Amino acid sequence: MNVLVVGGAGYIGAHTVQALRERGHKVFVYDNLSTGNLEAVPEDIHFFEGDIRDGDFLRHIFAEYLIDAVVHFAACSLVGESMQDPAKYYNNNVVGTLSLLNAMKGAGVEYLLFSSTAAVYGEPTSLPITETALCQPTNVYGRTKLAIEWSLADYAQAYNLKYTALRYFNAAGASLDASIGEAHPVETHLIPLILQAVTKHKALQVFGDDYPTPDGTCIRDYIHVLDLATAHVLALEKMVQTQQSAVYNLGTETGFSVLEIIKMVEQVTGLVVPYTISPRRAGDPARLVASVNKAKQQLGWQLQHSDLQQIISSAWQWHCK
Ligand code: UFG
Repeated sequence: MNVLVVGGAGYIGAHTVQALRERGHKVFVYDNLSTGNLEAVPEDIHFFEGDIRDGDFLRHIFAEYLIDAVVHFAACSLVGESMQDPAKYYNNNVVGTLSLLNAMKGAGVEYLLFSSTAAVYGEPTSLPITETALCQPTNVYGRTKLAIEWSLADYAQAYNLKYTALRYFNAAGASLDASIGEAHPVETHLIPLILQAVTKHKALQVFGDDYPTPDGTCIRDYIHVLDLATAHVLALEKMVQTQQSAVYNLGTETGFSVLEIIKMVEQVTGLVVPYTISPRRAGDPARLVASVNKAKQQLGWQLQHSDLQQIISSAWQWHCK
């Protein structure tokens, strides 16, 4: 297929571009480079610098390059920032996606694979979280992603659109040759921050040690970005084959606490992680662990790289490079 990857210069997008190409799809990348890195886009790929709110540009690309499907990563994704600046999040994520959907509709592009998030669930009432769990997001970021999921369902029902929403848990790790990794202009994610704490000797703040978990710190489900990328390829092909829309969780069904992640970083690097205990961060649920039965059964997806040691080793190699 001819696939336009929107937000393909970002961390998860760039890995998915590689996976789609390895599978033989012709890939085009569209990104406004607000947080993405041009360096992460292969030189021999057709790259368009543009914003998803630019419907005319999108329509032109759809028609000119006979795009069959869109994989949509372009979003603002910092939970804390979303609470302070909701306008930015509703505008970029919701308005932006509607612009993309309308351009697709106008050009007759039928398939959309959408990056959603575990943040749509909010505070879970039972674990592991299945796709049928109640969605009650506790932050603006999660609400924008849920609003988009609803728009997708409505568009799919009324127009000629099939979509798949992939609800990621905690994406982590880097490509095995350390060519692509996690590098955000403002870093808020745990594993890159721990690696920075090690190399810059700047103490990590552990947000809360009084949660109802065995060691008191929050538990998350960390999934290797390469396993996420594979799931995108499988989900896209499944959607085209079945002509059905779907929603899948992508995680590992295993949770690790913040202190367990710190210990693993010490084991992998052989260095001590300096840290202090700080107050809880607003909006952090105590535990988030995915059920991924549905993706495994329906997509034939298998985890290959998401052992915690593998995740952290690859992130460390990328960080060192
Ligand atoms: N944490 C710290 N100190 C830090 C940073 C994080 O203790 O300096 C803790 C957090 O409190 C949390 C865990 O480490 O318990 C993981 O935090 P991240 O910020 O790395 O990730 P989140 O679980 O908050 O968020 C991730 C994605 C979001 C997505 C969410 C879905 O980054 O985009 O999962 O649950 F919405």
